[in-house]
Order: sequence, then C-alpha cells, then structure tokens
Amino acid sequence: MSTDDFFSSASKELDRKESLIHERQKSSFRLGVLISGSGSNLQALIDAIEDYQLPGVEIALVVSNKADAYGLQRANKADAYGLQRALKHRLPAIYLPWNQRNVGAQFIAPKSEMSESESRLTTLLHLFQVDLIVLAGWMRILSAAFLEQFPQRVINIHPALLPDDGTGSTFTTRNGTQIPAFRGLHAVQQALDAGIKITGSCVHFVTPEVDAGPVICREEVAIEEGDTGERLHERLKVVEHRLIVEAVRRCKSVK
Ligand code: GRF
Repeated sequence: MSTDDFFSSASKELDRKESLIHERQKSSFRLGVLISGSGSNLQALIDAIEDYQLPGVEIALVVSNKADAYGLQRANKADAYGLQRALKHRLPAIYLPWNQRNVGAQFIAPKSEMSESESRLTTLLHLFQVDLIVLAGWMRILSAAFLEQFPQRVINIHPALLPDDGTGSTFTTRNGTQIPAFRGLHAVQQALDAGIKITGSCVHFVTPEVDAGPVICREEVAIEEGDTGERLHERLKVVEHRLIVEAVRRCKSVK
C-alpha cells in the first residue's frame, strides 16, 4: 500500500469512528455530575450504569470544585475521593476552581448574572453535550441566570424531606406527622436537634431558591436512638444511592 493510500484509508477510518461516537452521543442520555466531596452518589451512578440498571445513560463529564480531589498524596481524605472515582472509571473529570460569591446567602436567590465560574461550567456542559446536570454533593449555589439555561435539567440530592413542589416550611410524613422541611447545609443535624423520629432524603429539580424545587423522588428514614449526625447521614446516603439512580431514570424517560 502506498503512503497516500495508507493515509487516505486511515482518515476514512477516523471519520467513520468519529461519526459512530457522534451517533452514540446523540442517542445516549448524557450526565454531567457535579461534586464537591467524597462522591459516593457519583459512585452509585457509575455502578448502576456499569450494572446495566440505566440503559442508554452515560456520564459525559464529572466536575469537582475541590482541588483536593486530585491530591493523590491525600487520598485518605474524604474530599480526595470524588475525582479519583471518576478517573478510576476513565470518565472525563475536571477540577473547576469556583469563586465563593454566593456563600453565606443560602436562602436568597443568587444574582441574575452568571459568575465567571458559571460561564466556564456552562461552556464545559455544552462541550460535553450534557443532557442532565446532577448535583451530587455539589456545595456551591448556582445563580438564576445559570439555571435558566437548563430548565428542568438540573437535579440535586438533599438529605432531608421536602414537600412535592419543594416550597413551604413543613413536610407531612407517610404516618401523618408534620415535620419541618430542613434546608441548607445542616439539614441532617437540624433533623436530629429537632427531636423528630423520621427524616429522609430526596432528589429535586434545582431552582434559584436553595433546596426548594419540585421533588422527583424521596424516601423516609427513621431516626434511631443515639444517632449522631454522622451515623444518620451514612444511613441517608444508602437511601440516596437508590434515589439518584431512580431520579435519573425518571428524567431520562421524559427527555
Ligand atoms: C449527600 O448526602 C447529599 O445529600 C448532600 O451531599 C452529600 C454528598 O455525598 N447534598 P457524596 O459526596 O455523594 O458522598
């Protein structure tokens, strides 16, 4: 074979592969998973996909705002796990430094213009052709301007029970007990401190108001005698690992 023939056939083969990849990307439901921590919910998605529980779903991109996640020398730190989980499974994984503009303004709808970090995130999500953005322990508040670009396409896992439409200050459990709808960073500890017997986790659509979007699915979890925040959170996470898979399944079915 002449050199020209070789390059021409290699280039045809490359074109064929590229169009196959493109076709696959178009037909699959592509997740962009945003993490800030240990990434156990990311792992639940990875496992479900590898276990054929989410046919047609793939993780297109994992974004972490924690640099530590790359720090191999600190691999024993919980924060270090998130991106390593992605890399171990050969998923595209990116560390995206994040400015802290919104920290401390948890219940106030953030500003209407996007931050620089959000613009970068937007570019990445478009570049990787993400269909659904999953906030899996993502600890940064997203602005209304960012969210407007992805209507009904950003979901969040929250370790407390929220009402169906996400708003309101109480939730009624299956046994008819009314409990506060805990929001924000300390929802697990707040449930313990309130002395209630039932809490839970839910997955909800993200709206500019923090932890106040329509609920996709939820599960109740009993608070046990002597529970600590950590112990209770571990049990909540077991539930979340089921919920996040179910929520992605439901979102895909209405794509
Ligand atoms: C979860 O408990 C979720 O409810 C909350 O952040 C935690 C993330 O855990 N939003 P992980 O990083 O997925 O282990």
